[in-house]
Amino acid sequence: MTTTHEFWLAGRRASGDAEFEVRHPHDGSLVARVSVPTDAQVEEAVAAAAAAVPVFAATPAHVRAAALDHVSKRLAERTEEIARLITAENGKPIKWARGEVGRAVSVFRWAAEEARRTNGETMRLDTDPGGTGRFAVVRRFPRGVVLGIAPFNFPLNLVAHKVAPAIAVGAPIILKPAPATPVSALVLGEILAETDLPAGSWSVLPVENEKMPALVQDERLPVISFTGSDKVGYQIMDSVPRKHVTLELGGNAAAVVLADWSSEADLEWAATRIATFANYQAGQSCISVQRVIADASVYDALVEKVVAKVQAQVTGDPSDDATDVGPLVDENAAKRVEAWVEDAVAKGAVVLTGGKRDGAAYEPTVLADLPSDAILATAEVFGPVLSLHRVASTDEAFAEVNNSAFGLQAGVFTHDVQVAFRAHRELEVGGVVIGDAPSYRADQMPYGGVKDSGVGREGVKYAMDDFTFEKVLVLTGLDL
Ligand code: SIN
Repeated sequence: MTTTHEFWLAGRRASGDAEFEVRHPHDGSLVARVSVPTDAQVEEAVAAAAAAVPVFAATPAHVRAAALDHVSKRLAERTEEIARLITAENGKPIKWARGEVGRAVSVFRWAAEEARRTNGETMRLDTDPGGTGRFAVVRRFPRGVVLGIAPFNFPLNLVAHKVAPAIAVGAPIILKPAPATPVSALVLGEILAETDLPAGSWSVLPVENEKMPALVQDERLPVISFTGSDKVGYQIMDSVPRKHVTLELGGNAAAVVLADWSSEADLEWAATRIATFANYQAGQSCISVQRVIADASVYDALVEKVVAKVQAQVTGDPSDDATDVGPLVDENAAKRVEAWVEDAVAKGAVVLTGGKRDGAAYEPTVLADLPSDAILATAEVFGPVLSLHRVASTDEAFAEVNNSAFGLQAGVFTHDVQVAFRAHRELEVGGVVIGDAPSYRADQMPYGGVKDSGVGREGVKYAMDDFTFEKVLVLTGLDL
């Protein structure tokens, strides 16, 4: 029998008077029932978080760091169990789910380390006569309660990227998991409940999406950290212009293969990485490869390899160790991808491989000759589909990367360090990866976008900055 998961209200278990079901994207089986908080319970959690602001801010670093270390250790111990839950609720192949748990282990470990080493800075003020005998101490303080709104595509690690930095700085957090994938976040709550964090400093509330606008407006929640679609993200930002809002939004990431990346080994590596990272998690990552932009001199050889490697991706049951590509999060998501590929083909695109849907699964797909008026040419596909673009020069390649409303990450395959620096300077993205796909992310890196890909940065230390503000202490009359 499937039990109902309670939620976490101010650090303790609670259940509401309604529940919803979580179903396995691969076979539709029931994964969990999840209890939904009532309006009164949400109010209780917000009030408890607001009351915890001064208490948590004053908590010694060793208490916060010990709690974060504990979470990291317990996630590592429970890796297999939690990875299987991620696979069940999200459909992500088990090997990627294990990787996700491993990343969350690192995120909490990094947060513990940052909590210990954050010191603020000092500043001499006697650089002008008026500052003689004066000295400043600059420290960061929490802005207040963080409302974290997490997406379905990394049900644990993108939750970790909100919860861990909040704990590290001593900011209470109310975490709202994605409706499709709340179970991993609720299990994280079990582990948080084993720590000595102050009452009220954290809640995990599977609030219905329709109830979120009111919560977003609540003045006791001055920081909103949202990961999801650009449409919803900018609606949130526009609705609360005076709040501190960070948005991790979409992308249509490009992998650029330049003329100097031309040996057999070079092309083999690029094709392997492109085929893998266009399709990992069925393309449901904001930095999965959506566009391949290749110099004409390497294009044909690269395409042959990319198509072969995409065809070699093992599709099927995500709980099977051998599976590379599982279903999308639900059948509607797969139907949307199908419709977008049909739109591209109707407008002149050529399917080199893939292009078929089976329930919630969509075949790894490669398109050539994508016309610029196809939806896929501009929107984020969030599915296992890549398009190929032939260019005549590095100038044209970089212009093509920037020919997008989004700007999250780009990958550039080149051996030329000057071109690497040029890419860093010229590409309109939050991160450039040289010699690999744009999908590379180490969890301590600053991660976030420009243009429609969002504002603010995650990557533990950078989110800690977003959740805090600098306050200066000026000391006077000093004999310096
Ligand atoms: C995302 O989809 O934005 C997150 C990608 C990642 O953490 O690897």
